[in-house]
Amino acid sequence: MKVVTTIEALTTEIQTAKQKQQTIGLVPTMGYLHEGHLTLAQAARAENDVVVMSIFVNPTQFGPHEDFASYPRDLPRDTALAESVGVDIVFAPSVEEMYPQDGGIRIAAGKQATILCGASRPGHFDGVLQVVAKLFHLTQPTRAYFGQKDAQQVAIIATMVRDFNFPIEMRVIPIVREEDGLAKSSRNVYLSESERQEAPAIYEALQLARDHFLATGDAASALIEAKSHIQARTQGSIDYIELLAYPDLTPITAATEQVLVAAAVYIGKTRLIDNCIFTVK
Ligand code: PAJ
Repeated sequence: MKVVTTIEALTTEIQTAKQKQQTIGLVPTMGYLHEGHLTLAQAARAENDVVVMSIFVNPTQFGPHEDFASYPRDLPRDTALAESVGVDIVFAPSVEEMYPQDGGIRIAAGKQATILCGASRPGHFDGVLQVVAKLFHLTQPTRAYFGQKDAQQVAIIATMVRDFNFPIEMRVIPIVREEDGLAKSSRNVYLSESERQEAPAIYEALQLARDHFLATGDAASALIEAKSHIQARTQGSIDYIELLAYPDLTPITAATEQVLVAAAVYIGKTRLIDNCIFTVK
């Protein structure tokens, strides 16, 4: 496995692969790898000649009062884990390498970014699109791998791929969870022991909302049930919990076939997100 930190070195590797007509699988991450990330890499390994994983904590997707500075980082551990699942190239650039200058050009994420995480994190998805577009250009992947954990991110990147004609196949991987149901996340390390014990209530609440909606078709009371579960089981505060038609992220109608129930909850200071998608008919 090679670890490259410059765009020039990455470009050399990509050109070599392209000359050999090899397929390239890209797994974009912000590092501090866990089994969720590794599952993405394994899927990429199974389908491509060359697997590139990017490890870059992208400053442009963090708000001014968010956790960019404290976001967990451990490149030696990450590179060992990446190698263990067969990654060929880790691209771990510095902020200066990725953003040597700022011409003020932005990709605006559009309507899909005005709700859920987009509503509480203004500009977040514009930053995600900025870095993902750069990574797509730099690695020219045949396929790119994303987790369903970030369902809104997947929907917005899929829209960019469509609208800007990126010749890339997007692959979406199911959420990997801890044994008690908590979705794996790099941010779980922020949780104290007692917070960690409360955190599975988020997924329990999503399941309650799903079951209630499937039984009654009533989104409002499904959400009330989910919210009271979180309030009863945690000290946390709910940022949002919503039921929406998937993948459009529009209000549910009689014609809705797939539903996304998604939540963001502050457990202590840590903002955790989770979701589940289910079929109505
Ligand atoms: P990060 O949070 O590091 O996640 C990298 C990828 O791993 C994302 O596609 C995410 O959905 C996926 N992932 C995280 N936890 C997962 C889990 N429990 N199960 C399955 N997949 C999981 O998402 C980002 O980084 C960034 O926004 C990025 C796309 C890299 C752009 O900076």
